[in-house]
Amino acid sequence: MSTIPLNLETDVVVLPPPQLSPAAGLEQALRQRRSTRSFLPDALSLQLLSSLLWAAFGVNRHGEGGRTAPSAHNWQEIDVFAVLPEGAFRYDARAHRLMLVKAEDLRAATGSQDFVASAPLNLVYVADFARMQGVRPDERDFLAGADAGCIAQNVYLFCASLSLGTVVRGLVDRRHLSAALGLRPTERITLAQCVGHPGPP
Ligand SMILES: Cc1cc2nc3c(=O)[nH]c(=O)nc-3n(C[C@H](O)[C@H](O)[C@H](O)COP(=O)(O)O)c2cc1C
Repeated sequence: MSTIPLNLETDVVVLPPPQLSPAAGLEQALRQRRSTRSFLPDALSLQLLSSLLWAAFGVNRHGEGGRTAPSAHNWQEIDVFAVLPEGAFRYDARAHRLMLVKAEDLRAATGSQDFVASAPLNLVYVADFARMQGVRPDERDFLAGADAGCIAQNVYLFCASLSLGTVVRGLVDRRHLSAALGLRPTERITLAQCVGHPGPP
């Protein structure tokens, strides 16, 4: 089963409204949070993907454009890419939709560990340095990494609340993946994160 009803004529996937009614509350999610490195190949539903992306870095205050994760100076410089078997997409949080970037399976390019190629979803957190003005380069790199970490923890807690597996990953060939995703020179990959139904340990 495929996650994405891809319309190659428009390159846009409108996501259903997020639905968060996790069986587990926050305390339970914190107790169950952990990294998983074995995934079943089963696709995630479009509804689940929608809710996950919203939890990761969706808009939670529409009037002011606030997001579910904080960001330094409210730069909101991280773009979340969803790398699926059907292709790679950029999450447009304001419109809550996915924009097709590449109609290719780029999952194997998102990391150097073997499980990344078969995890049904790899998120990639890309910082756009063009949105981070008035900061020294060393501070900028540090803040971009911290902002991505906040998003990654949202994903960890979302996954823990629904018994999904996830692992955030710094082991990424950034040059290779940047080229595969066709990133602009100001865009830098911070972290990647696998998500899927957990497989055997
Ligand atoms: C910034 C960061 C980078 C990480 N990079 C990787 C990675 O590349 N590959 C991996 O398998 N785990 C990675 N991890 C996961 C850690 O190994 C994991 O969180 C740690 O072993 C503790 O296990 P736990 O998350 O189950 O508590 C990373 C974690 C963080 C916070």
